[in-house]
Amino acid sequence: MAKSKFEYVRLFETEDRCLPNSWIVVRVDGKGFHKFSTEHDYEKPNDLRALSLMNNAAMSVMEEFKDICLAYGQSDEYSFVFRKETQVYSRRSAKLSTNVCSLFTSAFVYYWSEHFPTSKPLYPPVFDGRTVLYPSNQNIRDYLSWRQADCHINNLYNTTFWALILKAGLTPVEAEQKLKGTLSGDKNEILFSQFSINYNKEPEMLRKGTILVRRKVPIALPDGGTREKSQIVQQHTDIIGDEFWNENNHLLTIS
Ligand code: GTP
Ligand code: MG
Repeated sequence: MAKSKFEYVRLFETEDRCLPNSWIVVRVDGKGFHKFSTEHDYEKPNDLRALSLMNNAAMSVMEEFKDICLAYGQSDEYSFVFRKETQVYSRRSAKLSTNVCSLFTSAFVYYWSEHFPTSKPLYPPVFDGRTVLYPSNQNIRDYLSWRQADCHINNLYNTTFWALILKAGLTPVEAEQKLKGTLSGDKNEILFSQFSINYNKEPEMLRKGTILVRRKVPIALPDGGTREKSQIVQQHTDIIGDEFWNENNHLLTIS
């Protein structure tokens, strides 16, 4: 078929294939969720409805993209880890980030009413998305450790900050002043001595974030037998230490 004289503009499109043999991470993050969470009356410091909606949206992404072997979420962000050898969209970076981000955002809106039954979003929420490559197993582990450490640091701060405001009646400026320069031990001490909160007993989902992995689970058959089915399961465990990776050593081994 003859090509139009305009066809040449296609050549302006740039090649953005991700390097082979590297872990591909797509991270989505809510745009301006400080404001969005306030305007939608998110509970402080953590809103379980909002976190379960984020997990629901992430499950939709993992159901669609079978090459995502693990996802990690906290606050208004989710990271999706594709198998090192994935060939989905020929590893094109923009295809991966835009499809993941678009599906995540639409699922967030689609499932909103299941988690917030009495309200509607006041405006369309926005998530940004980016693709980042990690060449070694150590790099991908360090990436996930970085996000989980961030979850811990922010959650300990926010738990103490909001206890000072909601339970001790401090203003946000006073609470910020009180926490300025404090170490994690100091915040643990404030929580325990002033509010009888043992931070280590706070729900794991809040302290550790959410990990989504695939597990083979036995399904009962009508004839009494069983067959294995892959299911996405949620965990709220530590992913910084070795235990999780020893238990899930298939994740880091190329099949
Ligand atoms: P950009 O990502 O740069 O657009 O800014 P942002 O306002 O989204 O901030 P960021 O992503 O750094 O942080 C997410 C913000 O979302 C937090 O600072 C909180 O204000 C808010 N947030 C996330 N989860 C919760 C929650 O469960 N409860 C409440 N109250 N706020 C939350
Ligand atoms: Mg954000």
